[in-house]
Amino acid sequence: YHLSVDSEAVSKGTYPHFMLKEIDEQPSVMRRISQEYFSSKGDVEVNQNIVNSILDSDRIYIVAAGTSYHAGLVGQKIIEKLAGIPVEVHVASEFGYYPPILSQKPFFIFLSQSGETADSRQVLSEVNKQGYPSLTITNVDRSTLSREATYTMLLHAGPEISVASTKAYTAQIAVQAVLAKALSEQSNYESGKEFDLQTQLALVANGMQEIVDEKQLLDDMSRRILTDADNAFYIGRGIDYNVALEAALKLKEISYIHTEGFAAGELKHGTIALIEEGTPVIGFITDKLSAGHTRSNLQEVLSRGAEVFTISMKRVANETDGIVLPDVDELLTPLLSVIPAQLIAYYTSLNRGHDVDQPRNLAKSVTVE
Ligand code: G6P
Repeated sequence: YHLSVDSEAVSKGTYPHFMLKEIDEQPSVMRRISQEYFSSKGDVEVNQNIVNSILDSDRIYIVAAGTSYHAGLVGQKIIEKLAGIPVEVHVASEFGYYPPILSQKPFFIFLSQSGETADSRQVLSEVNKQGYPSLTITNVDRSTLSREATYTMLLHAGPEISVASTKAYTAQIAVQAVLAKALSEQSNYESGKEFDLQTQLALVANGMQEIVDEKQLLDDMSRRILTDADNAFYIGRGIDYNVALEAALKLKEISYIHTEGFAAGELKHGTIALIEEGTPVIGFITDKLSAGHTRSNLQEVLSRGAEVFTISMKRVANETDGIVLPDVDELLTPLLSVIPAQLIAYYTSLNRGHDVDQPRNLAKSVTVE
């Protein structure tokens, strides 16, 4: 299909690749989302019909593919925590043919950067036949999913050209947080009402900038432990597990290193057999509840010869190789923790001599089922 975007916005400028440009744009995307969805008085602004329709439902079903599915997994945690509404997240290609038993009053959210993904379109047309209300959260106004859903919320991320999605992932998380905040204001749900999302998004934008300014560290790390690897693992628990899935997808899709994202506690039930001398294992440790457990899982792989790198909120004794993230509310840490993973994928692809923006076998928008 044709991209209708102005040439200014799709030029690489001084960047060698679109992916690096799009990674670097994330702080400004966070600021734009904040401007678009908050009034000058600081009130969250979401179409009232969307809020009413969701509050009238009894469960949200998020349907998406690829990176957007991973953004939905994080969105589920944010919406459930801030708005107190039960959420299920489904891969579109599965949902289409094997739908779960639906609740009495379902509300559907389609997450899609392009708004054109065939697997999601197929589900939406069925949802429309059943007469259920729906919202598409997309980067492309007037895209098919946007036109066919009841409502649309835009990501305001600007055109994303690199096949590996970066700024759309963080924008999708931020817009889902905006939606959760609006729902909680209307329903008087306390944890969301108390959550200062506008301030948090400003902290996120500054934090993202600090991380992209440290990108050299991630190039060095990639050369040290990843560039010559055959297999790699990202691990984490809770929201960190959700980010591990996205981090693994990013690395495998452009570096062609076989990478898995794993729930840290599940590693010992089989997969730890794959750890050998030099296998890179990258741990996300932002979730306070499980930090200690994830750290002991990293010790287990370290003692079996793994090369361990941590992406965490603080450095503990004997944790030498890693990056410490700027402080932000626990619920929004994926917006920061994914950035080092995006940069690790970028540099590993580059250092292995691959085409960063156009990886083999992949398309930006998959319009066949
Ligand atoms: C393709 C792209 C992925 C993307 C997925 C969903 O597979 O290569 O990067 O995450 O489609 O795309 P969407 O536009 O629906 O977010």
